[in-house]
Amino acid sequence: MAEIKVLGICGSPRKGATEHALQYALRIMEEKGAITNQVNLRKLKVHSCIHCDRCIKENTGRCMVFADDGDELVAQWESATTYLIASPVYSMGITPEIVNFISRLRPMRNRQIQQKEIQLPKVGSCITVGGTRHGGQETSAEIINNLYISRGILVCGGGGAYNAGTVWSKDQLEKNLLDDEEGMKTIRTIALRLMSAAKLLQDGFESNNKELLE
Ligand SMILES: Cc1cc2nc3c(=O)[nH]c(=O)nc-3n(C[C@H](O)[C@H](O)[C@H](O)COP(=O)(O)O)c2cc1C
Repeated sequence: MAEIKVLGICGSPRKGATEHALQYALRIMEEKGAITNQVNLRKLKVHSCIHCDRCIKENTGRCMVFADDGDELVAQWESATTYLIASPVYSMGITPEIVNFISRLRPMRNRQIQQKEIQLPKVGSCITVGGTRHGGQETSAEIINNLYISRGILVCGGGGAYNAGTVWSKDQLEKNLLDDEEGMKTIRTIALRLMSAAKLLQDGFESNNKELLE
C-alpha cells in the first residue's frame, strides 16, 4: 500500500490563526495514517514568476532566474499526492505569498503536458481564515480550488463544508479559533473527506494498474 503524502501549505505572512487551523487539519489526517508535511510560506523566500519563459523554452523543470526556496517547494509539491492549502482572507482573496508560490509552478507546465505514463490522480482541499464571519472565506477558497482544477488536481469539498474549511478568527490570531465551533467543524470535515478521497484514489489506482505497477 503506497503512502498518502499530504503537503499542507500555509500562506500567512505571520504565525497566526491560519497556521494553527492547518496544523489542526493535518493532525487529523495523520491520525488516519497520512504522512504530512506542513510548509509555512512565511519562513521561505519565494519570488513571483516574472514570465521570462526560459524554463519553458529550455524545458529546465526549474526557475532560471531566482535561486530562492521556490524550486525546492515545487519539488515537494511534485512528490505529494494530496494537498491542503490554507490562506488568510486578504481582500476576499488569498495572500500574495500563495500567489507567488503558485506562479512558480510554471516550470512544471511542459512536463505536465508531455507526461505519458499513467499517474496517480491527486486531490486537494483548502482552508480559508477570515477576520470577519462572512469576509470572503468562500471566494478565497474558489481561487485555491481553481488552482487545483487548472493543474488537473481533483477538488474535494462537501459534507456540509461546501467548498472549504472556513473559519472566523475575529482578527485575534489563533485565540478565537476554537470558539468558532462551526468553522472548526468544517476543517474537520474537509480533513476527513480529503483523507478518504486520497485513499479511494490510491486504492483504485493500484487495483486498476496492478499489472503495470508490478
Ligand atoms: C491586507 C489584509 C486584508 C484582509 N482582508 C480581509 C477580508 O477581505 N475579509 C476578512 O474576513 N478578513 C480580512 N483580513 C483579516 C484576516 O483575514 C484575518 O485576520 C486572518 O485571521 C489572518 O490570518 P492569520 O492570523 O493566519 O494571519 C485581512 C487582513 C489583512 C492584513
